Amino acid sequence: MFCKVRSLGLHGVTGYEVTAECDLSGGLPAFDIVGLPDAAVREARERVRAAIKNCGFSFPVSRITVNLAPADRRKAGTVYDLPILAGILTAGGQLRDAGEKSAFVGELSLGGEVRPVVGMLPMALAARRAGIESLYVPAGSAAEATLAGGLTVYPVEHVRQLVAHLQGEALIAPAPAWRPAPEDFLCPDFSEVKGQDTAKRALEIAAAGGHNLAMVGPPGSGKSMLARRLPSILPDMTRREALEATEVHSVMGLTDQSRPLLVQRPFRSPHHSISATGLAGGGNPLPRPGEISLAHNGVLFLDELPEFHKDALEALRQPMEEGQVAITRSAGSERFPARFMLVCAMNPCKCGWYGHPDHRCRCSPAEVKNYLGKLSGPLLDRIDLYVDVPALDFEELSRRPQAETSGEIKARVNAARQVQSGRFGPAGPDCNAHMGPRELERFCALDADCQTVMKGAFARMGLTARSYDRILRVARTIADLDGAEQIQVPHLAEALQYRESDYLRQ
Ligand SMILES: Nc1ncnc2c1ncn2[C@@H]1O[C@H](COP(=O)(O)OP(=O)(O)OP(=O)(O)O)[C@@H](O)[C@H]1O
Ligand SMILES: [Mg+2]
Ligand SMILES: [Zn+2]
Repeated sequence: MFCKVRSLGLHGVTGYEVTAECDLSGGLPAFDIVGLPDAAVREARERVRAAIKNCGFSFPVSRITVNLAPADRRKAGTVYDLPILAGILTAGGQLRDAGEKSAFVGELSLGGEVRPVVGMLPMALAARRAGIESLYVPAGSAAEATLAGGLTVYPVEHVRQLVAHLQGEALIAPAPAWRPAPEDFLCPDFSEVKGQDTAKRALEIAAAGGHNLAMVGPPGSGKSMLARRLPSILPDMTRREALEATEVHSVMGLTDQSRPLLVQRPFRSPHHSISATGLAGGGNPLPRPGEISLAHNGVLFLDELPEFHKDALEALRQPMEEGQVAITRSAGSERFPARFMLVCAMNPCKCGWYGHPDHRCRCSPAEVKNYLGKLSGPLLDRIDLYVDVPALDFEELSRRPQAETSGEIKARVNAARQVQSGRFGPAGPDCNAHMGPRELERFCALDADCQTVMKGAFARMGLTARSYDRILRVARTIADLDGAEQIQVPHLAEALQYRESDYLRQ
């Protein structure tokens, strides 16, 4: 007796179709799973056997072989428990065949409860691509599965419930499509930051165009405070961006069952002790996404940048250029999305007070040079905006001016982002920071006056070819915030001003 049950698996952050082929034949009772299973998949035998018995069915006294096809791909995790159980019961004639438009995923407890799985969203998207119509998933993962759209998702809590449904005794109600509720934004507000208008302006530009930004300043000047408020002004995500970000979080088990879709752009701020693997992704034998992929379509914030391990920072270079990270392993290479906005904060020197008018810096000139010298040129070159965040004087701190709220800033950011998506169209880049050579040529042409300004700056500041393009992209964003069709001299001049930090010019 033989039967096929469809299921899904994960390869990196992408789902793919798997078929559990179950064969029951005469001979000594045995239970084998083939098709490159890892230890967790092999242990499915014990869970399935116990669940079948504990739900009142008889475990077939036969030679059972389960092949997880395609047999040449490694299978990991516990998602195959449910399809294997369904296959064995169907092959043994104890359960009606669910049909070839159905697929199953889910982990089982020994008692037959169906437990949530990680990576539900990418698997559901793969189910949709494979033409599956009915998807049986753990009740806890059902909301996330509905995000894929176009599938009838059956939330299963217990094996008995699934059997009653397939036998036509008691039908399971399909899960309703999950919709985000308008929720309160739990992010601190920019109106709490006094002064620091230049830094706020730079953060607004960075958010509007997706540019990388670095803040340099003495201790306590408000760098961390400013960065933590960045999520409150980031542009709203499109549905596609939200799904992409959610896929990575789903695979890492970071989605919330009751609110499965990420509705805010991710903001990741790893501690400076993080390893290169933790930051960029990796691990053996199955590579996992790192912080840069969790920050996909959002922000990676590196506070105290010079304290990070050198090799961790080096690992950022290639992904920052390509918007994805390639991890090569003996088993093949893996690609994870990693299109993020880099925001970093740092002191100008080890003690933090270099260049301050009243405080004395205790570092030797060599130490000062060494501190920021640790940051490699190519990394600094990938930063579009540098802002100095000076210590506020007493006057500014004691004043209580009416600072702008995050809501007001966000409205301008959203408007500028809309101009960008209108200009590039659905097939183009998502924001100015990701313009390629073609868009740069079309949308960032400089008139004669701008050419003169740019030429002067090039000679004076010793810019590289890469920084030339970065300046054009930032100038484009400033023009978009200004509602201007063409880049004009004031836009370009402001963009150039962010290329230089008083501290980094030493
Ligand atoms: N511009 C400001 N407006 C209001 N409060 C501020 C401002 N700057 C600093 N503060 C206060 O000082 C505290 C410390 O600021 P923050 O941690 O952001 O400094 P920092 O620049 O990150 O310093 P470090 O270099 O030591 O990390 C804040 O929590 C806040 O209470
Ligand atoms: Mg800080
Ligand atoms: Zn110092």
